[in-house]
Amino acid sequence: MAKAPLRVAVTGAAGQIGYSLLFRIANGDMLGKDQPVILQLLEIPDEKAQKALSGVMMEIDDCAFPLLAGMTAHSDPMTAFKDIDYAVLVGARPRGPGMERKDLLSANAQIFTAQGKALNAVAKRTVKTLVVGNPANTNAYIAMKSAPDLPAKNFTAMLRLDHNRALSQLAAKTGKAVADIEKLIVWGNHSPTMYPDYRFAMIGGQSVKQMINDEEWNKNTFLPTVGKRGAAIIDARGLSSAASAANAAIDHIHDWHCGTNGKWVTMGIPSDGSYDIPKDVMYGFPVTCENGEYKIVQGLEVDAFSRERMNFTLNELTEEQEGVKHLL
Ligand code: NAD
Ligand code: LMR
Repeated sequence: MAKAPLRVAVTGAAGQIGYSLLFRIANGDMLGKDQPVILQLLEIPDEKAQKALSGVMMEIDDCAFPLLAGMTAHSDPMTAFKDIDYAVLVGARPRGPGMERKDLLSANAQIFTAQGKALNAVAKRTVKTLVVGNPANTNAYIAMKSAPDLPAKNFTAMLRLDHNRALSQLAAKTGKAVADIEKLIVWGNHSPTMYPDYRFAMIGGQSVKQMINDEEWNKNTFLPTVGKRGAAIIDARGLSSAASAANAAIDHIHDWHCGTNGKWVTMGIPSDGSYDIPKDVMYGFPVTCENGEYKIVQGLEVDAFSRERMNFTLNELTEEQEGVKHLL
């Protein structure tokens, strides 16, 4: 028997990430090739944005996706989020050259307060939310705090792009395939303070740390390359990453929904206190997923260098959260 459709809201649907994301959701890449979906697309009320959205929807129609069971356009989150199973919150102002993601905090904080409240009011009680709009961790924190009637654990922030970036850098360094790398982590904030950590990573039963055996490369090349990749893309493209960001959003929700078969992935999630990260801080952790739930990988050793890096990115998140307290 065919599965009942799941309702997916996407905000910023006429933006650059939206243009790479919507087609893949409708194609079954996110929730499975046997899972019908209904798209509920939100854009700002501005006439130009709504017109652009109608054009994107014409193109989606023209793909005749067999799994697409419905699609609606919205300018109000209270209708866009009605009865949804998943929310992918992309819509926000992106940064330009010379800006840090946290410079977007005040511009984007209002959006996530309003959207958190709308989710609280009208979404399914089990709705799962991924925040992509920057600064992603703190926006996810704001949305979570604005939705007190929904389970806090269902609010997440996207660190999967950082995880995928780190995988590619390690594959290039070791000359091995991306698909063979296991047990990578990106701790903390989606910002240059993040800590991509390959101390536990393995390829075909061999330790990646031992294969690379070069702490200078780790500190002076790997960490800054992954941490500043977003800025490198803005510098090269004149626009922030879009297709790779959409791909990471698909990976994040796909794995949350379909499970990881024991594989570790990185998700920005509200801390439960694990690894001495204070409760509720929206922090990148290693997780495995099963039956629609994520679980933090426990029991990993935290050495002095790692603790220093984990605290550095934690301090930035704590400061960001302090900075938005007055809005909550
Ligand atoms: P974009 O400017 O091309 O598109 C954003 C869209 O959002 C626009 O169409 C705009 O009209 C819409 N929008 C703005 N406010 C909205 C609101 N309140 N409700 C609904 N829609 C709204 O930007 P983009 O390149 O698609 O990037 C979107 C966001 O994603 C930015 O904040 C960017 O920094 C972030 N981003 C995050 C990651 C990550 O890894 N977490 C990666 C890439 C980009
Ligand atoms: C990225 O990492 O590519 C995005 O967060 C966009 C940005 O501002 O860097």
